[in-house]
Amino acid sequence: MSIYPPEDRIWWSKPVEKTEVLWVTIAFIWGLIMFFMMPYWHLTGDQNLSNEAYKITADKYAEKTEAFAKKYQVRVEGDNDVPVVKPPAGSDVYMLARLWDWWPILELEKGKSYRLHLSSLDYQHGFSLQPENINLQVHPNYDMVVTITPTSSGEFGIICNEFCGSGHHTMVGKMYVKDSK
Ligand code: CUA
Repeated sequence: MSIYPPEDRIWWSKPVEKTEVLWVTIAFIWGLIMFFMMPYWHLTGDQNLSNEAYKITADKYAEKTEAFAKKYQVRVEGDNDVPVVKPPAGSDVYMLARLWDWWPILELEKGKSYRLHLSSLDYQHGFSLQPENINLQVHPNYDMVVTITPTSSGEFGIICNEFCGSGHHTMVGKMYVKDSK
């Protein structure tokens, strides 16, 4: 039992058992494989979203998002008149997270790339695009940018998957993807 001192007090000078050496070797090689898989998969994995992050204040981000929504708004939706924003392909698109909504609604074109900016105006939220199951952490004071290219059209839901208070379960947004003409 380990609560007693080892019978042989100089156990460390004994040769290591063969099976133990084997397991340590296997674990070490596996560790190396996993380590090199990270950069490999980052560069070759289709599903990986490489992101960039920039410092920004909540006020500045809100200002940018409002200006963007105003510029490309095509209609409003729902009881709260949430703008539906249709930005040109290839452009920078903005969405903000706050207690408790995702704002505005984006309308994108299938097969076109966009630089999607995400930031929070208050606490940490979790951007979860459904049913695609793309998940991103959204932090205040960081403007996170991911390059996205929608591969299917339709209506997508955005839910918050980071607990953010009493309205967390109501924090839902929307994104449309239209077939390009
Ligand atoms: Cu935002 Cu949960």
